[in-house]
Amino acid sequence: MSARPPAHRGEDQGRPTALRRALIIGATSALAVLTGMMVIPDANAAASTLGAAAAQSGRYFGTAIAGGRLGDSAYTTIAAREFNMVTAENEMKIDATEPQRGQFTFSAGDNIYNWATQRGIKMRGHTLAWHSQQPGWMQSLSGSTLRQAMIDHINGVMAHYKGKLAAWDVVNEAFNEDGSRRQSNLQGTGNDWIEVAFRTARNADPSVKLCYNDYNIENWSYAKTQGVYRMIQDFKSRGVPIDCVGLQTHFTGGSSLPSNFQTTLSSFAALGVDVALTEVDVTNASTSQYAGLTQACMNVARCIGITVWGVRDSDSWRSSESPLLFDGGGNKKAAYTSVLNVLNSANPNPSTTTSSPAPSTSPTTSPPPSGGPSKIVGSQSGRCIDVPNSSHNNGTRVQLYDCHGLTNQQWTYTASKQLTVYGNMCLDAAGSGNSAAVQIYSCNGQTNQQWNVNSNGTITGVQSGRCIDVWGTGNGQQVQIYDCNGQANQQFRLVAL
Ligand code: G3I
Repeated sequence: MSARPPAHRGEDQGRPTALRRALIIGATSALAVLTGMMVIPDANAAASTLGAAAAQSGRYFGTAIAGGRLGDSAYTTIAAREFNMVTAENEMKIDATEPQRGQFTFSAGDNIYNWATQRGIKMRGHTLAWHSQQPGWMQSLSGSTLRQAMIDHINGVMAHYKGKLAAWDVVNEAFNEDGSRRQSNLQGTGNDWIEVAFRTARNADPSVKLCYNDYNIENWSYAKTQGVYRMIQDFKSRGVPIDCVGLQTHFTGGSSLPSNFQTTLSSFAALGVDVALTEVDVTNASTSQYAGLTQACMNVARCIGITVWGVRDSDSWRSSESPLLFDGGGNKKAAYTSVLNVLNSANPNPSTTTSSPAPSTSPTTSPPPSGGPSKIVGSQSGRCIDVPNSSHNNGTRVQLYDCHGLTNQQWTYTASKQLTVYGNMCLDAAGSGNSAAVQIYSCNGQTNQQWNVNSNGTITGVQSGRCIDVWGTGNGQQVQIYDCNGQANQQFRLVAL
């Protein structure tokens, strides 16, 4: 792992060629002329921040946030401007959240969560079960007592953040470099501790994505990568709940970008999980390595986002290697530009060809089934939009659930563009920004209760222009509105019952 291989050059499978991009831009311009006054957003316009650039292909670009730096305006200015996902660097770990057994403290994590959500930024949870950063009381436990403490910890923390986070790193760094399990106190409770952690997590919050997270699993031919791969394969074959693999992507401390990184990402994704780069840093911020790792993610449809492990070099746990995208003075480094350029050149919808226009540009409405009730089926999940527990309460957030056609999944599209349920309640957007909840509310005729059912398979809010969106496919996944991005998780169709 100490030699640095050449920067990844990838197979380039999903990226538009220069000619194709020129044709798309030309076609878009011609269409703008033909449509006179109508302004059609250029799907290929370059975004000027990392988060906005990543969002063009339905991805996020995040950073670790240290709670102690939230009072530093230079830090927060960059973080709020550039990123649309954050991870608490230390504040949601076991020692931070349960310093004494059974006594939970969330103030440090909540500070970051509140800072982020007030700015429309999503958050990943990190981390619930780990051999490191255990509080003293946990370090001294073993056997069934430790197993129960782990379960209690997962339940306690996930209950507090239920419905609030995009993902949880449920288990962190459980493998040795040779692909065997790390001999931690948690491993000592029995080899099934990881699946118990995931099953506990799914029960605690069915709406959040559950990830396994590790370092040195970027090289496809490395034994540790293969060990983790076999565990994910086993979990998927036995129905152990897992949604994603986080590849920390620390190309510091002697590691570097392997040429087969994209193969690793696509191989994990082929098991039926999302992948994400969760803690990226690169020695001396090599532009070729940063561009290569970003391109590898862009080339894999299920690579849902990239998180760098800190904002400025001075914020890094390995600051002596100057591994981040901003220097200590907050200036953008060359690596920043290399990442931004790759994000801006990404295929807006990596799961389809580039020759068809991005669905997010200008959807036309299509007549949905008229008259009687319909179910609203998510194309990616095959599951229906469902009112949990058949609640009639204002503000109940809707979710995905197995389609059964009962009244809490029966929606009627009215002439005034409402989607009604139970006759007098409406599908309602609880705001107009990204991630606003989609809920039920007494029909009131306002535009946050009006929806366009579009010919491109999306349903957009009349007030927000944003698409109905889910982060995952499982039962209990919460429904939100989000910038339309052409991805399958925003495809919903009304099917007459
Ligand atoms: O805040 C205290 C300070 O009050 C005290 O004086 C000082 C004394 O050493 O320690 C400070 O806490 C440190 C904390 O970072 C905040 O700076 C801890 O000692 C130090 O151990 C801790 O390191 C963190 C490390 O995880 C612990 O394992 C790093 O910030 C954090 O970046 C790092 O993150 C991990 C990921 O969670 C998992 N993957 C690897 C990654 C890098 O190690």
